[in-house]
Amino acid sequence: MHHFQYKGDELYAEDVAIKEIVAKVGSPVYIYSQATLARHFKAMDEAFASVPHTICYSVKANSNLAVLKNFINLGGGVDIVSGGELYRALAAGVDPKKVVYSGVGKRDDEIEYAIESGILLFNIESEQELDRINEVAGRLGKKAGIAIRVNPDVDPETHPYITTGLKKAKFGINIERALEQYARAQKMANIEILGIDCHIGSQLTKVSPFVDAIKKLKRLVEGLRGMGINLKYLDLGGGLGIQYNDEEPPLPSAYGASILEETKELGLHLLFEPGRNLVGNAGILVGKCLFTKKGEEKNFVIVDAGMNDLARPALYGSFHGVKPVMKDQDGVLVADVVGPICESGDFLVKDREIPNFKQGDLIAFMSAGAYGFTMSSNYNSRPRVAEVMVSGDKFEVIRERETMADLVKGEKLPSFL
Ligand code: LLP
Repeated sequence: MHHFQYKGDELYAEDVAIKEIVAKVGSPVYIYSQATLARHFKAMDEAFASVPHTICYSVKANSNLAVLKNFINLGGGVDIVSGGELYRALAAGVDPKKVVYSGVGKRDDEIEYAIESGILLFNIESEQELDRINEVAGRLGKKAGIAIRVNPDVDPETHPYITTGLKKAKFGINIERALEQYARAQKMANIEILGIDCHIGSQLTKVSPFVDAIKKLKRLVEGLRGMGINLKYLDLGGGLGIQYNDEEPPLPSAYGASILEETKELGLHLLFEPGRNLVGNAGILVGKCLFTKKGEEKNFVIVDAGMNDLARPALYGSFHGVKPVMKDQDGVLVADVVGPICESGDFLVKDREIPNFKQGDLIAFMSAGAYGFTMSSNYNSRPRVAEVMVSGDKFEVIRERETMADLVKGEKLPSFL
């Protein structure tokens, strides 16, 4: 459920007319509903209320400071994958003891920054990374908390680009080799073993792959106990899907119930790294119809938002619902909704029956809160769009639209030109 609904023929974000936001901020614009963000966080948090747990929001899904702050205010931590994400989370006021750091390619300076900031733990993704973190921690005279990210070889049955828990993936340490890495870690002077981690993929619409992964992890946890390693944390990653179109992902409560059932005898503090589930349906991208082209072969609705603003359709062929901001179109037509970018892959909607949009119509692209703005770029020298957060009958810009000057910021003409 989200708070982008019609009042009469007009689309609202909570109690604010989208039209009013565009009149003030311009188009295209990302709009987030604070009530929806809060609702989604609470649903996840409540699903695990009966056990010690921390919801470490996955910053990559939407890293705006206001979005982070919203979750931090509700008691959330963060899952980060770069020094940049750590910087953002700290700027938003996160408790460093609620930060977990994942990712296969952590640099020395990033490791150092994270240790100095006092994060909870690193999710270790390779043997060499473990050595590196031990070394850097030693240099700083500190101990680094770690969990090993195990690759359980489970198929999450999602898009291949967002499948991470199969043996052939670059992520994590093969489950059969995890014990020996823990044994190595046990002997390292500057490593504190705190947990075990897995993240098997994104946009999962079933609980069973999570359960299969946990079953494999449990055996490992027992093996570790036999070695005298008693873990404190079990990090189950993110990945719970959302409804974009006709998917029927489990509700957080059902996801929670299955996971609790499977993990209860372990008595570990659970960590979660949800991204999409918290923000996906809490945001929309609004664009304006510039032109329509009705051809013999195809119909095109050309909008001012493109693949640089919302890359998911171009990258994954993903579905985003389309809604008119004012319902005053004359019938429907089958069309592509395309952007201004000079690439044939620049579409937001392909061959779909949509309202018969006309020039000047505002169009909402739904479910754009996750991996929308964060994956946007300046391709074709297009300034990145503004972001707005709505709360009740109020709205504020939470990121200014970039200017032309922003586009060339940091560029320099060399002396030899
Ligand atoms: N934890 C780790 C280690 C991850 O790699 C990810 C996502 C998450 C948590 C959060 O997963 P979520 O709860 O959002 O499913 N750009 C793609 C999604 C890439 C996901 C990358 N990792 C998309 O737009 O669908």
